[in-house]
Amino acid sequence: MCGIVGVLGNHEAAPILLDALKRLEYRGYDSAGIATVNDGVLDCRRAVGKLVNLSDLLVHRPLAGKAGIGHTRWATHGAPTEANAHPHRAGPVAVVHNGIIENFRELRAELAEAGIGHETETDTETVALLTQHHMAQGMAPEAAAQATIARLRGAYALLFLFEGEGDLLIAARAGSPLAIGHGAGEMFVGSDAIALGDLTDRITYLEEGDIAVVTRAGAVIRDAAGRRVSRAETRIAIDHARVDKAGHRHFMAKEIAEQPVVIGDALRHFLSEDGTGIVLPEGAPDFAPVERIVMVACGTAHYACLTAKYWFEQLARLPVEVDIASEFRYREPPITPGTLAIFVSQSGETADTLAALRHCRDRAARLLAVINVETSSIARESDVALPILAGAEIGVASTKAFTCQLTVLLLLALRAAQARGEMGAERLADLLSGLRGLPATLNTAMAIDADVREVARDLAGAASALFLGRGLMYPLALEGALKLKEISYIHAEGYASGELKHGPIALIDETMPVIVMAPCDALFEKTVSNMQEVMARGGRVVLVSDAAGAAAAGEGTFRTIILPTVDPVLAPILFALPAQLIAYHTAIAKGTDVDQPRNLAKSVTVE
Ligand code: G6P
Repeated sequence: MCGIVGVLGNHEAAPILLDALKRLEYRGYDSAGIATVNDGVLDCRRAVGKLVNLSDLLVHRPLAGKAGIGHTRWATHGAPTEANAHPHRAGPVAVVHNGIIENFRELRAELAEAGIGHETETDTETVALLTQHHMAQGMAPEAAAQATIARLRGAYALLFLFEGEGDLLIAARAGSPLAIGHGAGEMFVGSDAIALGDLTDRITYLEEGDIAVVTRAGAVIRDAAGRRVSRAETRIAIDHARVDKAGHRHFMAKEIAEQPVVIGDALRHFLSEDGTGIVLPEGAPDFAPVERIVMVACGTAHYACLTAKYWFEQLARLPVEVDIASEFRYREPPITPGTLAIFVSQSGETADTLAALRHCRDRAARLLAVINVETSSIARESDVALPILAGAEIGVASTKAFTCQLTVLLLLALRAAQARGEMGAERLADLLSGLRGLPATLNTAMAIDADVREVARDLAGAASALFLGRGLMYPLALEGALKLKEISYIHAEGYASGELKHGPIALIDETMPVIVMAPCDALFEKTVSNMQEVMARGGRVVLVSDAAGAAAAGEGTFRTIILPTVDPVLAPILFALPAQLIAYHTAIAKGTDVDQPRNLAKSVTVE
């Protein structure tokens, strides 16, 4: 979602801000802007669409000054227009903002009574106007910003810049993360450390409710109660190689290709040195007394949870409920003390997942997070956080984070099976050995790329597509359909193969591609029957299977994609690859924006 950056530097701010905004592009946005202070004069430039429009504008109407703020906006209140883009300026103050101010209508009404009108429908303009109002009453910038922040309700990160103040930024965090970067005689602010990647590796994360007064001399931070506090400075190792495309055409392609390596990293992290034991960090749950598991997530992470439900139930005989975070948080389901609550999130900042976690606090026996960003809110607010070690994921459509989530969740399920006496040592050793071999298997499987391109050429002409799967392949069918609609804009649905006859079969005709995900496992024959039902009605079946499955399926499929054979328990991690590649190559064939699909955000930090 929106990205924030700020700089108090020794060089011209505009190019630095633009560069930092480029690094934030991956979050998804539809307009952008920057403001600087030059010889005390505050000025803004904003543009709709990609950053190139903003940089073009800056060529014609440059902004000088060594202090500035910048923003990429993902529209919430008000359309993506120049007027609604950030920074929002009101007289002597400019503001950039992530999140939503829930009481902005009430504040608007108050300002209207004081004779102050709005020009836009945005909540951010209200913040700027209220601060201006406070300054007009004689408050200094710092006091005015604090007085404004005290009035706000909602989840937000804010950054203020003031006319006449070339050495002052005020940053506030309440629900949306903000990082302060320390340079040599320079200071930076970013909505995540990636934004500051090329500027500094010395980062201080603000805590909930913190307000920071930033000058080139450093940051003075006060907590929600107004007490001066010191927050730790950490050195972040942003691996620059991982934040560029490394020769690939898109981040998504790079991230798909990285999977063997990052899954290997996750395995090394959670397996003993000889690879035969599962090592969880201190504070990890003891699965023996757990009565049930509740898993909560959004999007692709939710499908990782659905897959894990099969693993926990089949391997560890542990009942699991999986919920979409936005439903869970308002349904407020009863949580018994024997419940282990697991929250899965790449970013660790998804607003609904975080709210669900807070709902479970003090109710569940333990809150376990499976996250990619280790400094995230979900990681910090859970009892224990397991990193998936996928590295920075930039493509909006999640790929390597999904397979790393699956890897870590499978290890948890195996640990649970072991702790509950549901799995013998031999079977466990078997599965761990299969897991250790998975990076190599995935490397071999990359060879399906050419076959997938053929499938994609055909899919690109379709108006909609169906993905079918049974058992562990059912969540994969859902994920395959999600990937395809996210980046190719083709309507796609995932269905449990057994449900075909209860509705979707009515859609089948010769224009409907049906992708069947089916390794040759115990359920294969049943899936083949469903496939025959599709083919009998003229549907074009793309079978994704292994060699045995392809041989057993017989004639009549439109195309077949053959993966290496793995233990059926491990198949979801391997079968994620064709699901991702099908979407990727279809999007390429259609010419859509693969890394930043329209309307989508990488991390959804508002409800
Ligand atoms: C957005 C992203 C998805 C992601 C979902 C959950 O919708 O576009 O790729 O799966 O959010 O995000 P999280 O960071 O919680 O995993």
